[in-house]
Amino acid sequence: MSGMLNSGVGQQQFQRRTQNAPQERGPRQYIKVVPQQQEQVQSSNKSRTMTPYQAENGQMTLNGQESSSMLDWKVQLKLPPVDTRHKTEDVTATKGNEFEDYFLKRELLMGIYEKGFERPSPIQEESIPIALTGSDILARAKNGTGKTAAFCIPAIEKIDQNKNAIQVLILVPTRELALQTSQVCKELAKHLSIQIMVSTGGTSLKDDIMRLDQTVHLLISTPGRVLDLANKGVCNLRDCSMLVMDEADKLLSPEFRPLVERLIGYLPRNRQVLLFSATFPVTVKSFKDRFLRKPYVINLMDELTLKGITQYYAFVEEKQKVHCLNTLFSKLQINQSIIFCNSVNRVELLAKKITELGYSCFYIHAKMLQSHRSRVFHDFKNGACRNLVSSDLFTRGIDIQAVNVVINFDFPKNSETYLHRVGRSGRFGHLGLAVNLITYEDRFNLYRIEQELGSEIKPIPPQIDQVIYCR
Ligand SMILES: Nc1ncnc2c1ncn2[C@@H]1O[C@H](COP(=O)(O)OP(=O)(O)OP(=O)(O)O)[C@@H](O)[C@H]1O
Ligand SMILES: [Mg+2]
Repeated sequence: MSGMLNSGVGQQQFQRRTQNAPQERGPRQYIKVVPQQQEQVQSSNKSRTMTPYQAENGQMTLNGQESSSMLDWKVQLKLPPVDTRHKTEDVTATKGNEFEDYFLKRELLMGIYEKGFERPSPIQEESIPIALTGSDILARAKNGTGKTAAFCIPAIEKIDQNKNAIQVLILVPTRELALQTSQVCKELAKHLSIQIMVSTGGTSLKDDIMRLDQTVHLLISTPGRVLDLANKGVCNLRDCSMLVMDEADKLLSPEFRPLVERLIGYLPRNRQVLLFSATFPVTVKSFKDRFLRKPYVINLMDELTLKGITQYYAFVEEKQKVHCLNTLFSKLQINQSIIFCNSVNRVELLAKKITELGYSCFYIHAKMLQSHRSRVFHDFKNGACRNLVSSDLFTRGIDIQAVNVVINFDFPKNSETYLHRVGRSGRFGHLGLAVNLITYEDRFNLYRIEQELGSEIKPIPPQIDQVIYCR
């Protein structure tokens, strides 16, 4: 990071616009969520019908001794196109387990393979067998390395479809993450008859009450709403034998912790508790000591940042930020980007500026109507717009594979926030780029965060080779 304070980081270069701007200037709109005039960012390959083994090397390698009925179900799987992008060791350094090693229900295995998962990632290899034994777990693994399936797979496996009761509660800190997690569960369990419900603030409480009258096996919720339903006596958690807390450190922040502790009072004493996150500050310890029984601790973070993400900073004055962003837009090969600001107000102001510059963008923050938030999330995920300006609402857990660039328009104050924000690109070991706009006031935070994460944030060079974030 040497030379950070006086380098003026390539501001001259930043002011130049290239002739062939990679982003076309779209219609001037940033509030309405309508399809943008731009190429789809998602792959358009046709789906394939092959066995998982064929998917790997194009050859049938199933053991000839396996019975024809075993072969049948694999042959009939409808697998999505293979993702041929480069992947780093963050997800490839596995022990070589197969999903079949865990004796999961065949219907669940079908859902796993049809989701495009060929083999478990390192965190899945560690957590799935332990969670299946009923042990409490505190698991830490890098962003985008598959923690969701690491708890959803054992959760779904353990659910008894014939028992009419909420058997698993998955708590997450934001409504969008709840929607995303329920989608993952529904896909994994699509060949089972498990009833999955998502319940969050910002939606009709009456509807949730009616829905809870019917069978629910797996409930995904934000703490406030589920506590409300439990307090009203409409959400019965007496048979809920598994509690998962995703982004556990966030759920244990002062904002949520009292709710979570009250909620635990509604669960049976013999519950299993699974905590997952990429960050576990010391504050989690007291909760762990009080509520977890001999937890199995998994820590796959010998280093903190993702191997596939290159991190740069540009030293700018506050008033130069928009100009700098404009130059980044014209120079970078952005597949999709998330641009973080530190306040709701700044999110809206910046989205307006970006639109005035002629680039299409959506924006999202927690003060928007939930229906609008959900729509923006859905449409951005489907590639309807290239850029999303966001508050810290999207900092944790949000998984949009097409995002290859994260820009901290405002630099965050702590290293957890920084790590999670930057982890919105480079999902599942893919490559990504993080660019931080640093003002004079941010200089000590940049230094501290770099030290705390033990990772290098380099001055942005005049040219960035696409190979480092577009493969
Ligand atoms: N075994 C697997 N094979 C292929 N892709 C996988 C596998 N497991 C997960 N993925 C994909 O990896 C991406 C990231 O997974 P996930 O969102 O669970 O990461 P995470 O560890 O929870 O990240 P974060 O810390 O940001 O919440 C998802 O798109 C998911 O579908
Ligand atoms: Mg996650």
